[in-house]
Amino acid sequence: LEQQQALKDEIKALLKAKNAVLVAHYYTDPEIQALAEETGGCVSDSLEMARFGKEHQADTLIVAGVRFMGETSKILSPEKTVLMPTLEAECSLDLGCPADEFTAFCDAHPDHTVVVYANTSAAVKARADWVVTSSIALEIVEHLDSEGHKIIWAPDRHLGAYIEKQTGASMLRWQGACIVHDEFRAKALQELKAQNPDAAVLVHPESPASVIELADAVGSTSQLIKAAQTLPQQKLIVATDKGIFYKMQQACPDKEMVEAPTGGNGATCRSCAHCPWMAMNGLVAIRDALKDGGKTHEIQVDEETRIKAMIPLERMLNFAA
Ligand code: 13P
Ligand code: SF4
Repeated sequence: LEQQQALKDEIKALLKAKNAVLVAHYYTDPEIQALAEETGGCVSDSLEMARFGKEHQADTLIVAGVRFMGETSKILSPEKTVLMPTLEAECSLDLGCPADEFTAFCDAHPDHTVVVYANTSAAVKARADWVVTSSIALEIVEHLDSEGHKIIWAPDRHLGAYIEKQTGASMLRWQGACIVHDEFRAKALQELKAQNPDAAVLVHPESPASVIELADAVGSTSQLIKAAQTLPQQKLIVATDKGIFYKMQQACPDKEMVEAPTGGNGATCRSCAHCPWMAMNGLVAIRDALKDGGKTHEIQVDEETRIKAMIPLERMLNFAA
């Protein structure tokens, strides 16, 4: 504990010395989220992380999350140094949508408007007309559909199917999945619900349709935290990465929260409701990034890709404003 405190103090001093700010996602470990809060940084969903980093006056952003979040920050703030605890924190959605294959797919449907989820590489964003996060995907697709656009959607198949169902739009969908949310299971959730008839079920839309069907609230991480506060139930069954419990419990300290069941048990599940890449963000790695920066921690996006990727990202931020 003493060691942890010393590490935190060292990070705080480095943040000051470098005029740096810590931007963390809700899925990072509680001590990272707490540190971001204590130091005037931000803990949020991916939409707000992008906005916060762009608007902050710091010279350096240290992004605790996964690679696409660091890249998004760099695309929007080229004048800032963007560091990450590790550049190896990937995302299965990003990995499952390689830029060359995606470009060929888009080229084969030139009359379609290309909408990509924020969980993609800078190169995939550069091929898109719109970037969306789960906070704003429904509104943007609804808007495009009402204007008669034919839409390509990538890469999350479950979020895509959910949006189609909600908006009535029909989209050409990439078939990617998040390894964390893909593991939530409807049958086991139904049983848990039956044992807890007084509980509300909160589901992130990267989960399978059969799980979403059982939800009282569906939404992005920030929308789920809001729902936890506003729903009348005292007990909540939550189908998203368990990192969210830190802020959700803070937002409603009197409520009881239960993890939704995943496909495996401790021995067999791939993620057990915690993203292995988010888990790579530790205090030591944050300290090292701030101290050394350089090749192993600094996000670089080549200028041509950056300029192209900035257009659909700014379109999203302007739509959200
Ligand atoms: P949001 O925080 O935008 O809901 O995204 C969820 C996610 O999976 C990020 O990795
Ligand atoms: Fe990607 Fe899923 Fe991890 Fe989010 S939780 S970073 S969507 S793999």
